[in-house]
Formats: sequence, C-alpha cells, structure tokens
Amino acid sequence: MSRKARERIANREKHVERRDKMSIHDFTHDRATIEEVFDQSTRMVLYRFLNSGDLNEVNGVVSAGKEARVYWGKKKDGTELAVKIYLTSSAEFKKGMMMYIEGDYRFKNVKRDTRSLIYTWAQKEFRNLQEAARAKVRVPTPIAIESNVLIMEFIGKNGVSAPQLKEQPPNDPEKTYTQLLTYLKRLYQKAELVHGDLSEYNLMIWKGKLVMFDMSQSVPTSHPLAQFLLNRDITNVNRFFSRLGVKVLTNEEVYRKVTG
Ligand SMILES: Nc1ncnc2c1ncn2[C@@H]1O[C@H](COP(=O)(O)OP(=O)(O)O)[C@@H](O)[C@H]1O
Ligand SMILES: [Mg+2]
Repeated sequence: MSRKARERIANREKHVERRDKMSIHDFTHDRATIEEVFDQSTRMVLYRFLNSGDLNEVNGVVSAGKEARVYWGKKKDGTELAVKIYLTSSAEFKKGMMMYIEGDYRFKNVKRDTRSLIYTWAQKEFRNLQEAARAKVRVPTPIAIESNVLIMEFIGKNGVSAPQLKEQPPNDPEKTYTQLLTYLKRLYQKAELVHGDLSEYNLMIWKGKLVMFDMSQSVPTSHPLAQFLLNRDITNVNRFFSRLGVKVLTNEEVYRKVTG
C-alpha cells in the first residue's frame, strides 16, 4: 500500500472517531442532529427502523453526496450496516431520475411527484442490488427498504468504507479487470441489467474481492437507454484499467463478451 493510501485511511479513521452517534436514545431525547438534515417523514422511517430490530443505531455520515447520504449503522448484534438516505429535496435530481425510471418495466405507473420519484429511485436501487446479488455479482447485500431509506451490508470495517478503486488502485489490476468483465456478463445475461454509472468511483475492493455498488440508476437491458449506458460503462472501465497498464480488450470486444 502506498504512503498516500495509508495516510488517507488513517485520516478517515480519525474522522470516524469524531463522528456523532445517534441511537434510539438520542431519538427520544435529542433529535437535533437528524432534524437538521431530514424531513419529518424520513425521521419517522428511521424511527420505525430503530424500533423494528433491523437497525439499532445510526452513527455519523460516511458519505454526503448530492442525491443521497450514507450513514454507518449497526444492528443489535453489532453487525455494521450502511444506511443510504436519498434526499427528498433535490429538484435538479428529479429531471435526471425520470429518464431512468421511464422505460423500466418494473416501475410502470409510478407517481410523478418528486417524493414518489425519490421513493421509486430508492426502491430501484434495492431491486437492482437484489437482482445483481442473485446473478452472483458481488454487491452490498440489500437488507431493507422503506420510502427513501435503504439498509444494506456495510462494505468495510469500524465505520470506514472499503476504498473505491479511484482511491486505491487494485494490487493486481489484470485480475480485477477480468473479475469485472465476469460481473458485467453476469449482470447483463443473468440479472438482465446494465449498471449505468460504472467507473472507478462505484467499485471497491473488499477482502480481495471486487464489489460493485451505487445501482439506483441501473436499468433493465430492455430499457431504451441500456445499450448507450452499457457502452459508456465499458468506455469508463477500459479507460481506467488501460491507465493502470492492463492490456484491455477493445470496447467492441468487451461489448460482445458481455452481451453474447
Ligand atoms: N454498502 C456500503 N458500505 C460501505 N460504504 C458504502 C456503502 N455504500 C456506499 N458507501 C460509501 O458511500 C459512498 C457513496 O455511495 P454511493 O452509493 O456511490 O452514492 P452516491 O450516489 O452518492 O455516489 C461510497 O463511495 C462509499 O464510500
Ligand atoms: Mg457513487
């Protein structure tokens, strides 16, 4: 591991120690932290999860993106969880989402108001993770979904996520590239899905194995955008791996391998 990578991980660990912790206790006695970020209905969903046994505590934020925040949570037995909460306030995001939801046969007749679209978006990620896992693509195992709150397996340890490929290039890039092509083929042929936002930012290595994640935008192969998205995914991963010195297949060869 490079010095830079070690420093980055050390910094992240420091960050984790500073994190606020929220438990069911805080929920009943001091709701301030979550109150600032989430609306009433999101807080109610979290509260229900905290009462249900699926979730025992929600700790600090692991990632604060434009569309979603990911929190580090725990089950009663100490098992770590990732709690991804989609922001219900993002209007910009609504325009982008429509394109992926329309044309997805699994989500016909969904309501078009912003809140319903975001719930569908979260549901879509849950379904995509389930279908990918069934096709033997290593993804965070989805555990529960309600409204805009998705609970899944935490990839990492002690609240520190496994590094993205972007942050920490694989030790054996040839092997990782081959593994990725296998995943893409399984995803396309068994799950009949296209990731749609694949790059070194949405792949991690954990316990020596490649993990694919961030699948809310993934679409069925029958979706009008599927071929365009697949080609874009292939271009992104070929660019990344060729920069690492891997003798990558051409984009066309990968496309044929994945689809044929
Ligand atoms: N299941 C998980 N386990 C651990 N960390 C995760 C998990 N899911 C997401 N993360 C962390 O949160 C970041 C953002 O998650 P991602 O699903 O890519 O959302 P976004 O839509 O914001 O890109 C990831 O890069 C990773 O660091
Ligand atoms: Mg992402």
